[in-house]
Amino acid sequence: MAESRFLIVAVDGGAASGKSSTSRAISERFGLLHVDTGSFYRAVTFKLLELGVAPDDPSAVETALARLRPGTRVEGRSARMEIDGWTPGDEIRSARVNDNVSRFAALPVVRRFLLDYQRGQADVARRHGFEGLVMEGRDIGSVIFPDADLRIFLEASSAARAARRAAEGHVDQIHERDRLDTQRKTAPLVCPVGAVPIDSTHLSLSEVVDRVATLVRSKLGT
Ligand code: DC
Repeated sequence: MAESRFLIVAVDGGAASGKSSTSRAISERFGLLHVDTGSFYRAVTFKLLELGVAPDDPSAVETALARLRPGTRVEGRSARMEIDGWTPGDEIRSARVNDNVSRFAALPVVRRFLLDYQRGQADVARRHGFEGLVMEGRDIGSVIFPDADLRIFLEASSAARAARRAAEGHVDQIHERDRLDTQRKTAPLVCPVGAVPIDSTHLSLSEVVDRVATLVRSKLGT
């Protein structure tokens, strides 16, 4: 019997562009592990803030990171990061984390810390019997998995994105995070050549998911 292929789908986009809802739905439809790399940057940010380390002190950040031991727990279809046995919860969505995460994420030392960890999620998915993974973030199609089977870049107007965050009840500086994420030198938020841009401003979630699902099926030849 032919071995079924392992599928990698990369979903990038700005804050509140619909990455998580779309990726979660795609993971369910196709039996893929859902990996939210924003939650990894948030968990690391929370931990560093707790240790009293500031993003404007990269050498203190490097020293602190060297002591952290990241692990992964699979819950349902999602990969959850663990750090030294702590599994992050809602605290990583706090205003304090929102205000600091892009500053830490702009540091090359933080991105290096998470690079192999993120690529290693493919092995986690294989070990747990998934058909592949759908990974969302800012640099998945450009840096983490540039050879992914499918690379999606989600966009939406500022107004639509702000309304989505407000509906979730979160306080978030979407503009400021996007500015920092787009302008940083290391792995900035870009739509890489070859990625498929989808503007979701006037689309419902199920319309976006259907579009991505059609692209996935064409990759699978089904
Ligand atoms: O997806 P999110 O909004 O939860 O991500 C939080 C922050 O993490 C985002 O503002 C920038 C950073 N991030 C990143 O730099 N690279 C990724 N692949 C994912 C997130």
